[in-house]
Amino acid sequence: MRKIAVYPGTFDPITHGHSDIVRRATQLFDRVIIAVSENTHKNPAFDFKERIALAAEVLADNKRAQVKGFSNLLVDFAREQNADTIIRGLRAVSDLEYEFQLASMNRKLSPNIETIFLMPDEQYTYLSSSIVRQVAALKGDISGFVHPSVFIALTGKHR
Ligand code: COA
Repeated sequence: MRKIAVYPGTFDPITHGHSDIVRRATQLFDRVIIAVSENTHKNPAFDFKERIALAAEVLADNKRAQVKGFSNLLVDFAREQNADTIIRGLRAVSDLEYEFQLASMNRKLSPNIETIFLMPDEQYTYLSSSIVRQVAALKGDISGFVHPSVFIALTGKHR
């Protein structure tokens, strides 16, 4: 049986930290669906289509990774995709409380879907999309944190 996992997030935009998690996940699963959330309370800098397109471009070389958008409940989307696992990245202990809440609610909603946590490489533990956006807005060098196409998209926003 093919093992399918979903890796959900806002991806506003996708960073090297996210890609590192995807790389690790695709070593464990036959297919990993990067699930870009439309309904976000975060008021994203990139719209839904842009976030999907950037993630697809960044992950184009990884044959086991596929990018899709979703706007329903995550567990319903996972079920539609025949996925029985949700992947989340854990960067530091401070992530745990929020992740525990998400995973617990998802388990309550759908007991058959398991959440597993992967740690990104140490060099990405301090990365987040908003910190990268902030550095880009202040004309700092973000080339070490994001794929060239995200670099172009982000610097283009702050010209
Ligand atoms: N590398 C870099 N950054 C990382 C990272 C990693 N490995 N792991 C997490 N992050 C960052 C993200 O960039 C993001 O940073 P930001 O806040 O600066 O934008 C932050 O950590 C966490 O965001 P993200 O991983 O995008 O998750 P989220 O909290 O925005 O998304 C959803 C949460 C989309 C998964 C959740 O809201 C959801 O499932 N929504 C669907 C509706 C639903 O089912 N709701 C009920 C769920 S209980």
